[in-house]
Amino acid sequence: MPTDKAAEQLAGTRNFMPPGLRLGDEVLTDQKKYYSAEIARQEWNSLWTRVWTIAGRVSDVASPGDYFRYELGGESFVIVRSTDDRIRAFYNVCQHRGSRFDLGEFGNAAKFVCPFHSWAWNIDGTLKRITDIETFPPKTVCDRPNLSEVRCETWGGFVFICMDDRAPPLTEFLGTLAAALAPYGIEEMIVAKDYSADWPTNWKIGLDAFMEGYHAHARHPELIRMIDDYNFEYEVFGNGHSRMIIPMTAKSPRLKDPSALTAEFCLSLQAVGLDPREFEGRLQDARPAMIEGKRRWMERFGMDPSAFSETQIIDDANYNVFPNITFNAHPEGVLVMRFRPHATDPNRCHYDVWVLTRTCDAPGFAMPFYMAVPEGTDLSGKGPRPARRHIKHGEEGMGLVLDQDAEFLPTVQAGVQSRGFRGIRLSHQELRLRYYYEEYNRHLRA
Ligand code: FES
Ligand SMILES: [Fe+2]
Repeated sequence: MPTDKAAEQLAGTRNFMPPGLRLGDEVLTDQKKYYSAEIARQEWNSLWTRVWTIAGRVSDVASPGDYFRYELGGESFVIVRSTDDRIRAFYNVCQHRGSRFDLGEFGNAAKFVCPFHSWAWNIDGTLKRITDIETFPPKTVCDRPNLSEVRCETWGGFVFICMDDRAPPLTEFLGTLAAALAPYGIEEMIVAKDYSADWPTNWKIGLDAFMEGYHAHARHPELIRMIDDYNFEYEVFGNGHSRMIIPMTAKSPRLKDPSALTAEFCLSLQAVGLDPREFEGRLQDARPAMIEGKRRWMERFGMDPSAFSETQIIDDANYNVFPNITFNAHPEGVLVMRFRPHATDPNRCHYDVWVLTRTCDAPGFAMPFYMAVPEGTDLSGKGPRPARRHIKHGEEGMGLVLDQDAEFLPTVQAGVQSRGFRGIRLSHQELRLRYYYEEYNRHLRA
């Protein structure tokens, strides 16, 4: 049975720090990282080009020739399954005069042909054709240039890439985080929802809000009627990765009457087959019944509850994969959020939301309602993958909780740039941010 606890407990809230890891200890931290173009350039040179990042899903390159594009900052990559059945990643750039290839976000190609002068490469990156080669001085083309390749490894059904040949292997980078996530079987999950939005905030303003629960009472009033937002557990794993456990079996102690049933909490009880009326006046007894109810629910849909800890079964476990991903993980599915820096503007970012689910075609199988999987989505794994939906900020909803953050966070982006703002102060409830920025600063100093 997996355990959920590491070694050292800090005062204040339930936080767990493995020995040897440290938090940032500055009283006030610098807010320029949220808007400075100079720091964004440093991030590019010292962080984004040095670490592993998630480019996409293995299932999107299932057959030879399948490819997808991945944009990070000003770079574009093409991830492709080559004819030798290997997944490879190349910079999306022609070696003649630097044109990008004209590729869709997803597709299948027998070769990559440059749209400028039609040089062509095989899908393993080797040169196929130089147009009118006889008109080139031989020494300019004698190396028969391949496409520029970047490191590419897979874990959990994700394709990761890394631009730094000296970075440690992916498994070393993920460390114990991979073991904590292993029970979910994310590698088997399918894409059930794929949204990409442009946000008018720095990528870290977005990410920060998903690494703490401290703002839930003020920004998400519906949420605190179904979660205990004060007693989150925060845990760190090394290399900047961390987790918070969001208790889903109790309501906020901030509510006037925390013992009263709320409509939102009734939904949580009903989702695991319990009758809310049985818990009227005795909500403190709900947790064991909810765990048992969820175990039965999992068995009904072919999952093995014994692979999960109790908290993984019933609570919402939010994992941060350094530097720009969060997973809200449940046995039946995972909400993945990815924050990507804008190519030129530190006040903007790309916010990607995927819902990954186990495959099941039994009636009644569904994701937690806060993931807002569109009604009627095929979770059997037999249908086509849903297309990626591109959303302009404010034009289309992504689900209640995410929309509340999307609407509010641009005001933080403006506020951190105020001449009157003297710096960021972090509590134990924001422990993951303190830990995250310790690792972030380590990269930027390197
Ligand atoms: S730039 Fe690609 S063939 Fe000329
Ligand atoms: Fe939020």
